[in-house]
Amino acid sequence: CGIVGYIGDGNASDIIIEGLKKLEYRGYDSSGIALYKEGKIEVRKFKGRIANLEAAIEREHFTSTIGIGHTRWATHGAPSDANAHPHSNTDHSIAIVHNGIIENYVELREWLIKEHGIAFISETDSEVIGHLIGLYYDGNLLDAVNKAVDMMRGAYGIGVICSKEPDKLIAVRKDSPLVVGLGEGCNFIASDIPALLKHVRKIYLIENNETVVLTKNDVKIYNADRKEVKRDVFHVTWDADAAEKEGYDHFMLKEIYEQPKGIHETLNRRLDENGIVKLDGISLTKEDLEGFNKVYIVACGTAYHAGLVGKYIIEKLAKIPVEVDVASEFRYRDPFVDDKTLFIAISQSGETLDTLAALREAKNKGARILSVVNVVGSSVARESDDVFYTWAGPEIAVASTKAYTTQLMCMYLIALYMGHTKGVIDMELYHRYIDELQKVPDKLRDMLADETTLMEIAKEQYKLEQVFFIGRGLDSAVSFEGSLKLKEISYINSFAIAAGELKHGTIALIEPGTLVLALATQDRLFEKMLSNIQEVKARGAYVIGLAKEGNRDIEKQANRVIYIPDCMDDIAPLLSVVPLQLLAYNIAKLRGCDIDKPKNLAKSVTVE
Ligand code: G6P
Repeated sequence: CGIVGYIGDGNASDIIIEGLKKLEYRGYDSSGIALYKEGKIEVRKFKGRIANLEAAIEREHFTSTIGIGHTRWATHGAPSDANAHPHSNTDHSIAIVHNGIIENYVELREWLIKEHGIAFISETDSEVIGHLIGLYYDGNLLDAVNKAVDMMRGAYGIGVICSKEPDKLIAVRKDSPLVVGLGEGCNFIASDIPALLKHVRKIYLIENNETVVLTKNDVKIYNADRKEVKRDVFHVTWDADAAEKEGYDHFMLKEIYEQPKGIHETLNRRLDENGIVKLDGISLTKEDLEGFNKVYIVACGTAYHAGLVGKYIIEKLAKIPVEVDVASEFRYRDPFVDDKTLFIAISQSGETLDTLAALREAKNKGARILSVVNVVGSSVARESDDVFYTWAGPEIAVASTKAYTTQLMCMYLIALYMGHTKGVIDMELYHRYIDELQKVPDKLRDMLADETTLMEIAKEQYKLEQVFFIGRGLDSAVSFEGSLKLKEISYINSFAIAAGELKHGTIALIEPGTLVLALATQDRLFEKMLSNIQEVKARGAYVIGLAKEGNRDIEKQANRVIYIPDCMDDIAPLLSVVPLQLLAYNIAKLRGCDIDKPKNLAKSVTVE
């Protein structure tokens, strides 16, 4: 979910709706707005895209100078007008928007119904917040909010307005993102910076358990002890346009094309004049690294797939065992973690609740926490001992592309840093890696300059309903990501499996005409892959191979081939994933799918 709030002299509804649109990637099954107008709070909320809300507000010519808005991704209660935010108290004098989950809402709801005769309108956990604040309101909104918060357990970023104190907007944060934007004669709240970039560059990053009181000319931040605290202004240096499409049809395509730049920045900002990796600000010393006996990489979705490559490279270059796990599994299986563990969390948004919870679990067990994060100042970043930023810039499309490749780059850099600092890597090999990594952006530019083969394949195949991705070694890790890209944006039933494992079950599904995408970029495993291709061809599969330019032998086996430039085996994932992203994009486009906002998905999942 995403929240936006505004107080000032401008047109609150326009500003809020505009901000919500920038947050649609956080979820988009319903949206709503609460505005103060002539002594009353007016709430409008609708199931569906923000466009529905926008049309309704336009019809009514609503004007107001204070309000809060919300874009929802359903957790408790199906997407519906009633379950959309804002929610109010019984006499509608208070409106709230909420991002997160109130864990004890069943208890609170029953208490409000039984003890106070309150009637609930929605099925959401969030509705209790409005009623609690309403119940405690006694002429002081801040006191009422504080009392309500004291009763709530869970995660929340909340915005509150009250018709009896129309010069004030209150916001609270616990385990859900929240920022304050500082304008001239106006102030803002939002769950993420892109919502505010059009209006402000000066931001306060709100910490956990803080409450903020905004008036049009002032912002006061209070800590958990209700003491006022000072905060440094965070100046956003990104270009506002960076979050816009810049002429591309979709954010996803724009972000695919931004990969050479993101990879270049992620790498070159970390190399000193001798080509040695410096992990800016990261304090892992030789002693620290020698003290670890294992590494855990934990993440979700695409970031997890970057972790699969990370395991391979870190084990090889830093000579330490690495386990990779999805965050939602890690946290519930009592993993073997102690103070000799280096825990690496990977997250584009830095707000994925599963990843954050796994990080906290590892921290409690004494692990050292290093995170690889794209969003500066995000929760994962703030709760880690060390942060290594992917310099991808804002990623808007739900399907992650440039975040993935920059995460991969971070995996190589961390592995090289660890191997070098521990003194376990041969320096000639080290420089060969750096040299190969530095060539990646140009190789990618060349690949992106000619999409002909991919367009042809997309046109031939876009009507298919099933596809298998196979690969070995690093190709297996990339095939998982290629398959995820395709299924999430085109809704084609796509499945990835280690090529050698195919014969142990999945091959039963191969029939005449079944499409198999065979990744064969690893020289060492090339012959083996050719055998796997033969296996599926023998069952009638139509095979699209993906190989390095030098390995033309694949043409003898595969029906079609996509080539990537020649490179060292270990860095091939940085190149091979890109045609798979483009293939998924072009297929989804031909199928008429909503590429940037696929159904049922959210960019940043801040619930369990
Ligand atoms: C969601 C997104 C995925 C993303 C995953 C992890 O499920 O739809 O694209 O990979 O979250 O997100 P993070 O921000 O932690 O990398």
